[in-house]
Amino acid sequence: MRLALLGGTGDIGEGLALRWARDTDHDLVIGSRNAAKATRQADEYEAELTERGIEASISAGANDEAVKGADVVVLSVPPYYVTDTLEAVAETLPSDAVVVSPAVGIDTDEDGFHNDPPGVGSVTQLAAETVDNRVVGAFHNLPADRLSDLDADLGMDTLVVGSEDAKGLVASLADEIEGLRALDGGPLANAPEIEGLTPLLINVARYNDGLSHLGVRFT
Ligand SMILES: NC(=O)c1ccc[n+]([C@@H]2O[C@H](COP(=O)([O-])OP(=O)(O)OC[C@H]3O[C@@H](n4cnc5c(N)ncnc54)[C@H](OP(=O)(O)O)[C@@H]3O)[C@@H](O)[C@H]2O)c1
Repeated sequence: MRLALLGGTGDIGEGLALRWARDTDHDLVIGSRNAAKATRQADEYEAELTERGIEASISAGANDEAVKGADVVVLSVPPYYVTDTLEAVAETLPSDAVVVSPAVGIDTDEDGFHNDPPGVGSVTQLAAETVDNRVVGAFHNLPADRLSDLDADLGMDTLVVGSEDAKGLVASLADEIEGLRALDGGPLANAPEIEGLTPLLINVARYNDGLSHLGVRFT
């Protein structure tokens, strides 16, 4: 399967790319607004994997090139740029590609971090309103720092929301990452509750010494 990570040059993109490259045989392509930046990052990810004795070939390109031929496209960009990014790749995005949104709108004040969703309820639903593709929400509650630390055991769950056919595909991609378990979060309408968990996790880490890079495990 071909997986394109738009904005795969950033934090969550790095974690997903490194884990998928280590744990699966899928074709990975790092996307960026700047093709040269994408290539630099892909080379860095390959170098890190090589140091660990893992041979991986990670492609790279501008976002609109990266989506060509992709089966799954992950929107690893800040929430405010999800619609811009989708619009920028509209001409080359395959109509049958599943689009995955891990994005969470977050606001901060002196008390902590707060969910700041778009009017439609969640960033995942906003993405679904922007494209005709099947859209799935996943990976919202994963801490990027832990994901990109290949020495860290994950032991975490990720809730997957969307239509039945597309959700299963993304759930298997999540399950293929060692230490990650995909759980069915229901339809897209349930995305607001899942996105709202992310600021909660950051607040718990902020207010409790010794806790950092938190995720969730449902038991
Ligand atoms: N960080 C986490 O722990 C975490 C966890 C779960 C979910 N998420 C979600 O994952 C998404 C990405 O988070 P992140 O921490 O990886 O973000 P990030 O590192 O700040 O940014 C990711 C990438 O987005 C691209 N980008 C920046 N500004 C942009 C713009 N104006 N238009 C289009 N692309 C732009 C950049 O790629 P180029 O410059 O190469 O184009 C950047 O490398 C967010 O929506 C976040 O809510 C993050």
